[in-house]
Amino acid sequence: MYFLTICKVLITLCVLVTAGHAADEGHTAPCDISVQDTSNLTLNCSRRNIQSIPEWPQQINNINEDGDVLITFFNNSITNVTQLGPVPGIRIAISFKANRILDIEDDAFRNIERLVYLDLSHNSISGDVLRSEIFQGPYKNGVYGDIALETLNLGHNKIHSLDRYFFKYTPNLTRLYLNNNPIEILDHVTMLALSSARNLEVLDLSKTEIGSIPLDAFKGLAKLQQIDLSDNQFVTVPESLSLVGNTLKYLTFNNNPIVELNDDSFVGLSNLLELEVGENDYLDEVKRSTFTPLKSLRVLHLCHNPNLRYISHNAFRGLKDKWTLKEVYLDDNNLSELSADLMPWNKLETLGMTGNNWLCNCDLANIVTRQGAGTKFRPGDIPYCAAPMRMSGEYITNITMTFCPTLDSTFIPKKNFTFSDLRPKHVLWSILGVACIVLIGMLLGLLVNTLKSVYNKRIRSQPIRYINLNADASFA
Ligand SMILES: *[C@@H]1O[C@H](CO)[C@@H](O)[C@H](O)[C@H]1NC(C)=O
Ligand SMILES: *[C@@H]1O[C@H](CO)[C@@H](O)[C@H](O)[C@H]1NC(C)=O
Ligand SMILES: *[C@@H]1O[C@H](CO)[C@@H](O)[C@H](O)[C@H]1NC(C)=O
Ligand SMILES: *[C@@H]1O[C@H](CO)[C@@H](O)[C@H](O)[C@H]1NC(C)=O
Ligand SMILES: *[C@@H]1O[C@H](CO)[C@@H](O)[C@H](O)[C@H]1NC(C)=O
Ligand SMILES: *[C@@H]1O[C@H](CO)[C@@H](O)[C@H](O)[C@H]1NC(C)=O
Ligand SMILES: *[C@@H]1O[C@H](CO)[C@@H](O)[C@H](O)[C@H]1NC(C)=O
Ligand SMILES: *[C@@H]1O[C@H](CO)[C@@H](O)[C@H](O)[C@H]1NC(C)=O
Repeated sequence: MYFLTICKVLITLCVLVTAGHAADEGHTAPCDISVQDTSNLTLNCSRRNIQSIPEWPQQINNINEDGDVLITFFNNSITNVTQLGPVPGIRIAISFKANRILDIEDDAFRNIERLVYLDLSHNSISGDVLRSEIFQGPYKNGVYGDIALETLNLGHNKIHSLDRYFFKYTPNLTRLYLNNNPIEILDHVTMLALSSARNLEVLDLSKTEIGSIPLDAFKGLAKLQQIDLSDNQFVTVPESLSLVGNTLKYLTFNNNPIVELNDDSFVGLSNLLELEVGENDYLDEVKRSTFTPLKSLRVLHLCHNPNLRYISHNAFRGLKDKWTLKEVYLDDNNLSELSADLMPWNKLETLGMTGNNWLCNCDLANIVTRQGAGTKFRPGDIPYCAAPMRMSGEYITNITMTFCPTLDSTFIPKKNFTFSDLRPKHVLWSILGVACIVLIGMLLGLLVNTLKSVYNKRIRSQPIRYINLNADASFA
């Protein structure tokens, strides 16, 4: 009897355990497949505790040859990207974000020639794993073809450097994210790799611990439009950017240990549309002509620099005649004054000035009231006065400058000539003038000298003849 009961209990337990196990498996195995229509399919394998890449479900073939396919393995435990099975469709996106990837097999994507987007971010991939062979396309006639890859996200990994031929099979790569990797130094091979990605348009090198970029690093990147260099160790804006100055449109340069911006900072970036320089804790000054090279700039973010106290009134020197800026954000710095002639304020569309220590003086009144800057603030973003004491806490649009009676004559200083009006052209002419005068002087001197020597010759030769004459005379 007892034996039977024990047996029953055991059997029940066994069933329960296996059932539980089966339930577990059931939870981890299949991915959700959703087909919007024959041209759009999503295979959702997120958060399923997957450790190795499964075979694709049969339904994946329900997609048209020109369809879009998204496959995501977000947040699993995959350690090795092994060769993936074929996927139909024309644009295929695969995400392995947030796994534990340590290795990628050669030819891993060779069955997915139309892979355009690959997210390998938040893994443990090191530079050694990133060989050109992993991106080899279909093997035909003894050679490997290319794959269509356009976007590659390698952010948040353990990459120190890239293989020289890493981009050999990905000629269409346009967006490359290398952020949050311990690169530290852009070594020679990494540079060769980067400059071989000739169609690159977007490059993210933020949080890579780099402090310099070799001068010719971007040589060959004739299409680079956007670069992020934030959260690094730069003490100056790297000069190497000027090599891509013709194409670069967006530059982000936040949180670097720069102390000042000056006329060397943005040399050659004549096509830049948007510039962001923020969260630079040591930045305390923007010097004259800093923005002068930025002849196409439309948006300037100069925010959250807690020590930025001074912007030279000549910071936009040379730009005022052909003003292109539409949006200027100077929020959350440590500014107290701005020069009334810093920029043509009325030509802006949006201006941000909140979070500073504004001294509400006549200059500021001029900017805000007379030059119309007060109408450019976004609703709810009206800056306050910090000083003088009696105005502290007032909106700067509220200040009335009854004590600035000479506003009209004081603030439109139509000086006929100042040294700041001196342009390179003028200086050149002056130098040429001086050179001319010196030249004429020298020629005159030469002439006088020649005349003198001719005259001397005559004088010197005369006595000889004279002596001869005398001799002749004495003979005579
Ligand atoms: C495919 O479907 C997803 C989800 O419904 C949608 O977000 C995406 O825009 C669709 N893509 C195309 C190309 O229709
Ligand atoms: C994918 O599946 C996971 C787990 O079932 C779910 O949390 C997530 O919202 C799904 N994602 C999409 C885009 O459907
Ligand atoms: C992934 O899922 C685990 C739980 O399984 C969670 O603790 C972790 O925060 C998730 N990671 C990400 C990046 O969401
Ligand atoms: C990853 O998988 C490939 C193919 O199965 C194998 O050759 C390689 O050794 C694996 N890597 C690791 C780190 O297990
Ligand atoms: C790269 O892009 C071009 C132009 O869009 C296309 O003709 C070519 O097939 C693409 N290369 C690959 C390998 O997909
Ligand atoms: C802002 O500048 C003032 C001096 O003008 C200085 O006393 C203060 O510490 C600065 N604030 C910050 C956050 O650096
Ligand atoms: C601005 O001025 C108006 C009256 O002119 C006053 O009611 C308002 O409180 C002022 N606001 C601030 C923030 O100074
Ligand atoms: C130069 O200054 C004089 C007065 O100092 C003024 O009358 C004249 O209009 C100015 N000329 C120009 C070109 O601004």
